[in-house]
Amino acid sequence: MTILITGATGFIGKYLCLTLLQQGHEVQALTRSQSSLTQLIGFLQQQGIAMERFSALEGDLEKPELGLITLPGRIECIVHLAARFAWNLPEHDARHTNVTGSLRVAELARQLRCRLVFISGFMLANTEHLSRLGINGSHPEQTDWSRVYRRAGGYEASKLESAFRLREFVARHGLDAVEIQPATVAGHRSTGELDPAQPLHGLLDNLYHGRMAMIPGSPDHWLPLVPVDSLAQVIAASCEANHAPDTLLVLDQNTPNLAGLLQAAAQFLGKPAPRRHLPIGVMKALLAIPGLPGLLKVAPESLAFIQTCRFDTSRTERFLAQQNVPLPPFAQYLEASCRHYCQRLGVAGGAVTSGA
Ligand SMILES: NC(=O)c1ccc[n+]([C@@H]2O[C@H](COP(=O)([O-])OP(=O)(O)OC[C@H]3O[C@@H](n4cnc5c(N)ncnc54)[C@H](OP(=O)(O)O)[C@@H]3O)[C@@H](O)[C@H]2O)c1
Repeated sequence: MTILITGATGFIGKYLCLTLLQQGHEVQALTRSQSSLTQLIGFLQQQGIAMERFSALEGDLEKPELGLITLPGRIECIVHLAARFAWNLPEHDARHTNVTGSLRVAELARQLRCRLVFISGFMLANTEHLSRLGINGSHPEQTDWSRVYRRAGGYEASKLESAFRLREFVARHGLDAVEIQPATVAGHRSTGELDPAQPLHGLLDNLYHGRMAMIPGSPDHWLPLVPVDSLAQVIAASCEANHAPDTLLVLDQNTPNLAGLLQAAAQFLGKPAPRRHLPIGVMKALLAIPGLPGLLKVAPESLAFIQTCRFDTSRTERFLAQQNVPLPPFAQYLEASCRHYCQRLGVAGGAVTSGA
């Protein structure tokens, strides 16, 4: 198959390129930056990939028609990963890239008559959270999106709005589409590679540097994870599966509660784990104190991903079994992520318990 990927130079994108090329597919990367492309090519070559089935196409979500001068040749599937992924994004900027840009990608899929695999996030499966934000799942067109942006912040609100607008576009044009809803991404199951810009890296960094004295939330709160290589495998499988479900929630049900996650990570990092809980509401109020988010290196927006909601992943599990994509054990990829974190810092980690 020939697959066009937006966001190919990002953390998930580079592992998706690797997986698809290893499976023998042709990959076209839609990129806007030569330096990111050079890094991606370097990564793929390091992994022993022969590059003749890889090509790049200049494009930008922020430009009309994605800045494409002509339509790309035969494409059987577009995977849309590209997004502005940062905290404190102004509504206009977040919308411009993540909503308008996503609709441009969907329009390209319509013109090319190919499958669209788009990446939203696991919060789209948390209906209580959506309704707390004022989103009516059955009538999303009635949503006051500016209010959602004020409540959730630019990144999260634009990801939610983009998913609803893409679903509407897909339904209106009868597109063949799959929505992937990933949990927070963890490092590669064996190398543990985790980009420093990833939220889990920020959590490990706070734990390592003693900035995490208390556990946000209650013992029921959790932050579900998925290792980047498993997510790449699921996305790759959804590009070509004949009867892929229209929505795939990709998270590891064996992720423990946040206290358990922090305890395991602290052990792997060789640091003490926080033991006492701090209600999320209290933490948010503290983070409203000017300067504190910077000092503690916690963006108030990031707390929204720590919730008590449990999810039904039975549909994804059936798909993973059919596609032969087993998830590695939680301790294996968390330990690998912590080891990689310590290697980057040039420090020794803590106790090693699994043979990852
Ligand atoms: N990581 C997670 O925990 C997680 C969880 C759930 C969902 N997701 C979603 O998964 C997707 C990928 O995440 P990631 O972690 O791989 O993000 P990432 O590392 O920040 O990568 C973002 C990618 O988007 C590209 N991009 C940004 N703005 C663009 C524009 N205007 N035009 C074209 N390309 C643009 C970037 O290209 P440049 O190299 O040019 O900057 C980069 O390739 C995002 O949609 C994110 O919302 C991520």
